[in-house]
Amino acid sequence: MNILITGVAGFIGFHTALKLLNKKNNVYGIDSLNNYYDVKIKKLRLNLLKKKFSKTKKFGFYKNNLKNEKFLVNIIKKKKIKIVIHLAAQAGVRHSLKKPIDYVTNNIVATTNLLEACRKSKNIKHFLLASTSSVYASSIKTPFNEKDPADFPLQFYAATKRATELMAHSYSHLYGIPFTILRFFTVYGPFGRPDMALYKFTQNILKNKEIEVFNNGNHTRDFTYVDDIAISIQKLIKKIPKTNDTFGLSKKISHYSNAKINIINIGNGKQETLEKYISLIEKTLNKKAKKNYLPFQIGDALNTSSNIKRLKKTIKFSPKVNIDKGIKNFIRWFKSYYKI
Ligand SMILES: NC(=O)c1ccc[n+]([C@@H]2O[C@H](COP(=O)([O-])OP(=O)(O)OC[C@H]3O[C@@H](n4cnc5c(N)ncnc54)[C@H](O)[C@@H]3O)[C@@H](O)[C@H]2O)c1
Repeated sequence: MNILITGVAGFIGFHTALKLLNKKNNVYGIDSLNNYYDVKIKKLRLNLLKKKFSKTKKFGFYKNNLKNEKFLVNIIKKKKIKIVIHLAAQAGVRHSLKKPIDYVTNNIVATTNLLEACRKSKNIKHFLLASTSSVYASSIKTPFNEKDPADFPLQFYAATKRATELMAHSYSHLYGIPFTILRFFTVYGPFGRPDMALYKFTQNILKNKEIEVFNNGNHTRDFTYVDDIAISIQKLIKKIPKTNDTFGLSKKISHYSNAKINIINIGNGKQETLEKYISLIEKTLNKKAKKNYLPFQIGDALNTSSNIKRLKKTIKFSPKVNIDKGIKNFIRWFKSYYKI
């Protein structure tokens, strides 16, 4: 199968490519290698992919930006792409308060270009689009179910992600492209993002620096181990939606939609407190954190928790790695990366 992964040098893109390349697939990856966080780790991920798969010629990498629609049209045609896994995005809730335009460029405009390239190709069998649990943030009911309202995002990152979900629906209705929307819940693990809590906490604790604990540690999160995400994506590729049954539309409205689209939560299915997460990091590092308790940050979600019944039903798999094991794996990787 010829698969295109956007954001392949990113955290989830790297792990997904690794998983798919171990099977009989050809993976073509695009990434702009932007400097939202240290580019060194993006290059390291890419070098590992190139090293492992260069001889088999199953992996091709293109440093390019999704703003270049002509390039996308060409690559999809030349490499006979059938499956698109769209992970490239400007992620991060906090950064969206500072630079919202990055989200318009890399989420809305970039996704539009990719959708257009797929429409022109006419050969795309399945388009998997990364979204986020943040789209549910205004919901007080947990766990979040795919049919829960997601139309009132509390910050701009989630607003742009929700916009891409809606754009996918319209492209599916208009041009028949089947879409699966992947709503990820706080992903963590080896080769993780330096802007995310686990990385920052580990780094600061080891350097005897304070860690910032927002909302006085009263958040809960559904932490999902990255390998469980990659396995889920690999299995979902084969589950091509045939109808529009989860778009949160009433039957009366969905009657007019010909979209073939599915929305799937990919979470661990467990709600953990931030305090527990920190105490597990401390335990694994055998070192106490200096905690700087801070008030609630505007835009943050108070709690996230996934209902993963649909995931289990669709792919007969549920995420397996608990946070004890996942944090240990991350810290083992972190120490080897920094030669500690
Ligand atoms: N990590 C999480 O906890 C999490 C949670 C929910 C949703 N997501 C979503 O999952 C996807 C992957 O996230 P991640 O954690 O791997 O992020 P990441 O930042 O590590 O990876 C994204 C990659 O996309 C690239 N990119 C950004 N804009 C681009 C453009 N215009 N053209 C080409 N490449 C571009 C970046 O250089 C980066 O390498 C994103 O869509 C994100 O919104 C992630």
